Amino acid sequence: MSNIDYLDYRIDKVLITEEQIKERIKELGKQITKDFKGKELTVVSILRGSFLFTADLCRSIDLDQKLDFMAVSSYGNATKSSGVVKVEKDLAESITGKNVLIIEDIIDTGLTLSHVLKLLKTREPASIKICVLCNKPSNLQQHVSVDYCGFTIGDEFVVGYGLDHKGYLRNLPYIGIVKPEYQ
Ligand code: IMP
Repeated sequence: MSNIDYLDYRIDKVLITEEQIKERIKELGKQITKDFKGKELTVVSILRGSFLFTADLCRSIDLDQKLDFMAVSSYGNATKSSGVVKVEKDLAESITGKNVLIIEDIIDTGLTLSHVLKLLKTREPASIKICVLCNKPSNLQQHVSVDYCGFTIGDEFVVGYGLDHKGYLRNLPYIGIVKPEYQ
């Protein structure tokens, strides 16, 4: 249990509780451990939104694993992706011949992840799988094949557990919806 047990004043309602996140991460970790049994994993965490998800998920995966980070930004307004993706920080190590698991916070239009996927495939990894915390299928513009999904959610702008609104609210231990007046 975290020590943030009050509802932030900008949050309308909690969509996914801290306990639900923990439970789901245990399940995802078990599944990934089973699917990659006997293989080494290269976890590629997409910053900044997936930092908490990555920290918890990698500890529930019982495999030899390396962890690398890529920071991308998508130009757009506060709540909509433009599809123009800029790599702000590239991976530290080569992924050629590696079994890669991309960890992303959320798929909305799918434009960011499809761009990242295209880029990483050119580096010829042995395999590449995708794990997302939240999938918002209602806004999808570019199909991305997701291998592991934490939660499928509706067309709502969510924050917390790494997800931000204008840079804030990433530290909330739950996933919540921002009040319209603060959006
Ligand atoms: P996409 O390119 O539209 O799929 O958007 C991907 C990126 O937009 C994510 O990695 C997030 O950083 C951001 N994003 C999309 N929807 C949300 C949301 O509901 N809350 C917070 N960030 C979001």
